[in-house]
Amino acid sequence: LLAPYEGEARYEAIQKLLQERLPLYRSAADIEVSVFKQSPEDIAEEILDMTNELEKSSQREIWVCNGPNLNFLGIREKGIYGNQDYDTLVKMIEEKAQELGVEVEVFQSNYEGGLIDRIQKAYFEKADGIIINPGAFTHYSYAVRDALASVADIPKIEVHISNVHTREEFRHTSVTVPVCNGQVVGLGLKGYLYALEAVKDMAEKKA
Ligand code: DQA
Repeated sequence: LLAPYEGEARYEAIQKLLQERLPLYRSAADIEVSVFKQSPEDIAEEILDMTNELEKSSQREIWVCNGPNLNFLGIREKGIYGNQDYDTLVKMIEEKAQELGVEVEVFQSNYEGGLIDRIQKAYFEKADGIIINPGAFTHYSYAVRDALASVADIPKIEVHISNVHTREEFRHTSVTVPVCNGQVVGLGLKGYLYALEAVKDMAEKKA
């Protein structure tokens, strides 16, 4: 391509070709790194940083919402909910998320309105999936149910640490699960991790 040109003319030919090609290169590229005035090591580092950022921004974002008294894990009814505390649960969820390559936001509120605000926020911030343990609200909160029903397009899984079906009668009813895609019950804290895998799959299938 450049053979017919020499000296300054060759330089101009290169400039012209580049001008024609640059929009095509740009439209096919995900990142752009300047190589001027940078050492090869710095360029490599910049490429790594930018690709890491890119990977992060394309990761699915799953929101975990915990309802009342779940912050009391490790303190409340240990025979039912175990000895591990809430911070341990959050750590387990974050580690699993990292392993699965998803982003996770773990939230807890003792208030009905806190959970509802969070579910609505998941809509505005375009969360890719919701895992919810509504705690006792599961059994009677039509308001939490309505909030979940409003975000119909977001895959949702309800989690219960204990096996609610072997406990008191009032725990056998969930008013929230009919507006979720599925439920994990009675598998302890690990239930959240299974839910994370499931919700990730659902979010990927949807996309
Ligand atoms: C729970 C079960 C609910 O009945 C109870 O009110 C909770 C925790 C569970 O994770 O097993 O707070 O949701």
